[in-house]
Amino acid sequence: MDSFFITTPIYYVNAKPHLGHAYTTILADSMNRFHKLMGDDTFFLTGTDEHGDKIVQAAEKGGQTPREYVDDISSLFSDLWPNLQIENDDFIRTTEERHIKCVQGVLQKVYDKGDIYFGEYGGHYCFGCERFYTEKELEDGKCPQHETVPEYIAEKNYFFKMSKYQDWLIGHINANPDFIRPERYRNEVLSLLKSGALEDLCISRPKTRLEWGIELPFDKDFVTYVWFDALINYITALDYPKGDKFKQFWPSANHLVAKDILKPHAVFWPTMLKAAEIEPYQNLNVHGYWLIKDTKMSKSLGNVVSPLEMAQKYGVNAFRYFLMREMSFGNDSSFSEEALVGRLNADLANDLGNLFSRTLSMTHKYFDGLVPAQGAEDEVDCAIKSVGRASMAAFQQNFIDVKFSRGLEALWELVRGLNKYIDTTQPWALYKEENMSRLGTVMYVLLENMRKIAVHLWPVMPEASESMLAQLGIKFHPEKINLKGEVDVWGLLEHGTEVASKSNLFPRVEFEKTPPVEKKKKVAKAAKKTKEVKTEIPGIIEFPDFQKVEMKIGTVLSVVKHPDADKLLIVKLDTGEDEPRQVVAGLAEFFTPEQLEGKQVVVVVNLKPRKLRGEVSQGMILAVRNGDGMELLTVTAGVANGCQVS
Ligand code: ME8
Ligand code: MG
Repeated sequence: MDSFFITTPIYYVNAKPHLGHAYTTILADSMNRFHKLMGDDTFFLTGTDEHGDKIVQAAEKGGQTPREYVDDISSLFSDLWPNLQIENDDFIRTTEERHIKCVQGVLQKVYDKGDIYFGEYGGHYCFGCERFYTEKELEDGKCPQHETVPEYIAEKNYFFKMSKYQDWLIGHINANPDFIRPERYRNEVLSLLKSGALEDLCISRPKTRLEWGIELPFDKDFVTYVWFDALINYITALDYPKGDKFKQFWPSANHLVAKDILKPHAVFWPTMLKAAEIEPYQNLNVHGYWLIKDTKMSKSLGNVVSPLEMAQKYGVNAFRYFLMREMSFGNDSSFSEEALVGRLNADLANDLGNLFSRTLSMTHKYFDGLVPAQGAEDEVDCAIKSVGRASMAAFQQNFIDVKFSRGLEALWELVRGLNKYIDTTQPWALYKEENMSRLGTVMYVLLENMRKIAVHLWPVMPEASESMLAQLGIKFHPEKINLKGEVDVWGLLEHGTEVASKSNLFPRVEFEKTPPVEKKKKVAKAAKKTKEVKTEIPGIIEFPDFQKVEMKIGTVLSVVKHPDADKLLIVKLDTGEDEPRQVVAGLAEFFTPEQLEGKQVVVVVNLKPRKLRGEVSQGMILAVRNGDGMELLTVTAGVANGCQVS
């Protein structure tokens, strides 16, 4: 039995979890479940990173002690995961005793070896990143992540001789093409390593400046730099140095991170391991950012999406599917609810959902809900079976290669193929002809393939997969599944099994334009002003939003038909301004120019001017559809042109 060890970053507890954290953790869960079904013995680790300046600052802001603060936020993470159907084997916190011991053990080992020395250092320190930047790394003198000017700090500290392992690391990356993947990040790291000498890593902070950290075992006046502390979590959780788990799982270690923390994982961590005489991890898997519009979603920018809200609104399984299908691993991807709804309706409700509901209801109609026996196979049957084999093999290979989106795309070849298969084989016609043996084969081919699809989807949509299997009369046991074997095996669905009569796995949803982004800053400001917490109600706007629309009373001066559009009239109005205002209005079907001239109407005057079929329109005339006709909004008594409507 092979082993598989998968980790997420341990998240900072300086803010609550957002969609970015959820994505990495869902992906890790999915990889873990996939390897479980592939027959591996697996271990899945996540947790929280609780030391450092950032935490102290955040705690102070909320008037809490660091201890109270980290307990609160850490539990926001650990409580969230089950709601997203994430099943981690361990949740590590860097403030735990087991971790403190492990970090001190590693530090002592590296110190005794002579790879840690005491020295003076001055550098540009970014408090956001909790690290020093070299001149070269700054962009216009600013931290490239936070776009703030770092502070210059000079002090005595301990240093790890990272530079000593530079050549070894280059060699290791060259010899192991998959060590860092996808390739673009491997190349990025190689070019960084080859661009010049690595600097040694400052691994301590004087207690005079910061106390919230792990004390150095060889100098009680210093605490450990957060990254040297945090990275070690990956082996603490395996009970390094003596644990059986460490022996079993470390050789298969797969780290999953976003590109923001590529350098610590690709450079600090392997050299730290080397110095501590521990084998390197197996793979570093690096994904891109979720963006909102074109900007990285991040707590510091405040443009975050709540994963729980999305899961509650659209279903956890649909949400998980969307994240994995939408982002091509390694690249950035934009998040929008509109895209989520699009995929939910197209891939899940239409393709997958329909396949299940059609096939199950046909099984009831034609075979009393019992899986029929399969008879001789035709060419179409062989063809769809071979589509199935190719699609499942591709799904598995892509999941091994961390190309999740492609894996799902490949599986959907089969889902769509089966829908087409229904259309070509026309079970309803076979039933009419009473060709029950042929009909049995067709229905069996459908049902057995649906079983295979359901099994493959467990890593991505655990609950939906179990429901699909339940609908096929199968109780799900992960340990009984051999995913590898599923590509070629045929006939595991037993004939005579009773299937569900209905299936409504993924109801279609309408897209509502409620803002997905928590408008944190604005809401906070507004709440401060009015001393009440405002919640946003879909479809309701704030008074200032209404005030943005400027409406005035105007009299129609003249009207002509638009030369190039039958439905449009070109209306000139007196809206109390120096010049008549021209509005192009879709009124030609309802009014003659004569009927309009002289009328007082309501005009939206601050619409951005636009051209309609070559004619400039500066505003909009308000009107009401009345059956097949149309009425204009007007005033009950004459008022001066230019009067404000409010
Ligand atoms: O860096 N898109 O913690 P962190 C995709 N404590 N993923 C995102 C994301 C986005 N917009 N924003 C965050 C730390 N993430 C350290 C890690 S590990 C030993 C220490 C995810 O809370 C992604 O996984 O800043 C990213 O790498 C991680 O959150 C950073 O989490
Ligand atoms: Mg971060």
